[in-house]
Amino acid sequence: MLRGKTVLIGITGSIAAYKILELIRMYKRQNADVKVICTPNALNFVTKLTLQNLSQNNVAVEEFDIPDFKPEHISYADSADIMVIAPASANTISKIANGICDNLLTSTVCAFKKSVIIAPAMNCNMWENPLVQENLIKLKRLGYEILGPECGFLACGYEGKGRLCDLQTIFDKTVEKLGGNKLLGKKIVITAGGTIENIDPVRYISNYSSGKMGLALADCAYSQGADVTLISTFDVERAYNVVKVTSALEMRDAVLVQFADCLIMAAAVADYRVKNYAEQKIKKTDADEITLELVKNPDILKEVCNSENRPKCVVGFCAESENLIENAKTKLSAKNCDFLVANDISRKDIGFSSDYNEVTIFSKTGSAVKLDKAPKTEIAKRIFEVIYEVDREFCTAKPC
Ligand code: CTP
Repeated sequence: MLRGKTVLIGITGSIAAYKILELIRMYKRQNADVKVICTPNALNFVTKLTLQNLSQNNVAVEEFDIPDFKPEHISYADSADIMVIAPASANTISKIANGICDNLLTSTVCAFKKSVIIAPAMNCNMWENPLVQENLIKLKRLGYEILGPECGFLACGYEGKGRLCDLQTIFDKTVEKLGGNKLLGKKIVITAGGTIENIDPVRYISNYSSGKMGLALADCAYSQGADVTLISTFDVERAYNVVKVTSALEMRDAVLVQFADCLIMAAAVADYRVKNYAEQKIKKTDADEITLELVKNPDILKEVCNSENRPKCVVGFCAESENLIENAKTKLSAKNCDFLVANDISRKDIGFSSDYNEVTIFSKTGSAVKLDKAPKTEIAKRIFEVIYEVDREFCTAKPC
């Protein structure tokens, strides 16, 4: 569920710190990389050794213990996908709300630009203190996610509000924020790259597709829990299944044997192949012209969309050099797919070999969503978001 995600846990000086040992295990069970930062006071309640063993990472406390060129708090902030401060003491909450950076944990939160979950735990009188409450209101307003605390019997002997909320609540919110499970249990097949149509043993016809968009989609689907098969025309090593193909015919064969929930045809498939492949190298002759005969390749996307094994969700791509909207709409209905992602190849700063793209996603329900220029990794995430929005049934939607 959390494969490929890094969760940074901040533990402060509260007796509830011992509960975080189990939270670390919950994240680890779902394959997250867990990093832990403790305030010096936290170590009065849990040991560094225990945290290190459970998280399988070094545990950081000191701010100026710099292992690489970056200050520790910046390295930590950059390396994680989410920060979870639990238990969060009144002291740390108040410092964060006021931008105070006097230890590694508070400095890291200050430099952290992604989601931060704060799970307070403290004595009920401290919780009710208007200063603490005011600081919490401020944090909520600024987008920090505050979970709990709950009412109950407190370690200090009091009965009231101040208990760390249920660990499952913290875990579920982490998964929800990371979008880590959206594609759990879904089999997704993605094609990438330009097909190669051989002419003879040394020559071929192909196109400029780099396969970066398809690869970004496959990485994104995998990070969201999908069972991914990438059918690619280039060599790439990944933890998920990669099937290497060369020609359109090979790609067709590889696609048709898959039983998927979703097929994304990001590959640039050659429409024609050479009619008579020459087993030996074609030699130069005295003639000034030679003619290469081509025959039509099967349209893989169209074939899949009209087959009995049609995946529930089929996404096509189209690269156009003119009349983008018109051509995309025509292709969407001609091929009978659910979504068509269109981009303009006349632009040199996006598309083919660029790391960036700018696309419009047309759906068969009539919607058109334009995604502004962004890295292909970001565009991949947004494409999946659009699919969830339009096709909610496709998304599992259950936190865990
Ligand atoms: N496609 C396919 N099989 C083909 C050609 C294209 O599966 N033989 C898929 C592509 O992977 C893409 C979509 O169809 O998802 C649109 O490809 P594109 O090349 O834009 O469209 P074509 O149908 O080939 O039409 P044209 O080349 O005339 O624009």
